[in-house]
Amino acid sequence: MKVPLLDLKPQYKSLKKELDDTLIRVAESQYFILGPEVDKMEKSFNEYLGVKYSLGVSSGTDALLLALMAIEIKPGDEVIVPTYSFFATAGVVSRLNAVPVLVDSDPVTFNIIPSDIEKKITVKTKAIIPVHLYGQSCEMDEIMSIAKKRNIKVIEDAAQAIGVQYKDGKHVGTIGDIGCFSFFPSKNLGCFGDGGLVTTNDDKLAEKMRILRVHGGEPKYYHKVIGGNFRLDALQAAILNVKLPYLDSWSEQRRKNAETYTRLFIDKGLSQDVGKINFDEKNKVLLPKAVYLKNADVAKNYHIYNQYIIRVEKRDELRKFLTEKEIGTEIYYPVPFHLQECFSNLGYKAGDFPLAEMSANTSIALPIYPELTLEQIKYVVDMIDEFHKHN
Ligand SMILES: Cc1ncc(COP(=O)(O)O)c(C=O)c1O
Repeated sequence: MKVPLLDLKPQYKSLKKELDDTLIRVAESQYFILGPEVDKMEKSFNEYLGVKYSLGVSSGTDALLLALMAIEIKPGDEVIVPTYSFFATAGVVSRLNAVPVLVDSDPVTFNIIPSDIEKKITVKTKAIIPVHLYGQSCEMDEIMSIAKKRNIKVIEDAAQAIGVQYKDGKHVGTIGDIGCFSFFPSKNLGCFGDGGLVTTNDDKLAEKMRILRVHGGEPKYYHKVIGGNFRLDALQAAILNVKLPYLDSWSEQRRKNAETYTRLFIDKGLSQDVGKINFDEKNKVLLPKAVYLKNADVAKNYHIYNQYIIRVEKRDELRKFLTEKEIGTEIYYPVPFHLQECFSNLGYKAGDFPLAEMSANTSIALPIYPELTLEQIKYVVDMIDEFHKHN
């Protein structure tokens, strides 16, 4: 049986008529950049997320860059980021000649450890970028309280977390000063190419980002500041307008699939419970946990499983075995930032962030997309069981 890591075709087929009509409508309008489709999309996201301002932008990476530009990050400023994330989280900091200051991540939630953030704050710290990795909220209460005490800005990297709610039911991306989302096709809500969103409740930041999105021109061709081309295509906004009403049902299906995996791994005896940190005879597969937030109302920590990540000791051998069995997997992320060649100037070394290194060496993403069948999930778990019988 073939189980791809992600198959976007079933989703396209289920909305084919609506999407095709939309593509044609945009083609006939010949209105390609920003404009009414983007305005409509921004209003829909304001409503969906419960936020004052949403601005469509060219990608999740550009959302982060624009956010840092809006809070006026300057060369030499320090920005705290987790060492374990997608490259863009730290890349955008360095692109502004600021310094990414790295922090370790929890191996159960895969999110930044708030108490470690506190230890890294200096007079140069201007911002913190918590990343809601794989679709689960960071400990935002603790992070906001650390930041507020010192007047540090919080830019939420919610690229993988559209629809994620924190413990009080608040959407992530609306808690810090600015939220950044990605609509890369593999996200829970994906467009037909690159796209992103910035969100804020702050009038001044919203206005600044609106101007920086179009090269800093206000009015057009008059520049008080230097911005960039961070505009969203009308076509991408139109696709998102069709898809947004379905997002929650897709995320619910991902949550069901995650539950099924978890139950099957426990039934097979590969794992005793969710959220274990160390391997032993009864825990050969370490399962992700969606309820780790301290003091949280568990029901309201709404994980959207953009990825379902397990940890296994012989990760690379397992991946090879699953590939032979036609099961798609991915390693997010094999090299934390402190071990990336391009960040060698930051002066970190192997062993500096042991928890992130542990995750980088043992984690593997399994197929979790909404249209996955029960048979496919069972097959994946059976093959992981099979592997562990011989390894
Ligand atoms: C955590 C995180 N941050 C930022 C990004 C960048 O988003 P994009 O690919 O839309 O530029 C991604 C996308 O993969 C991501 O996963």
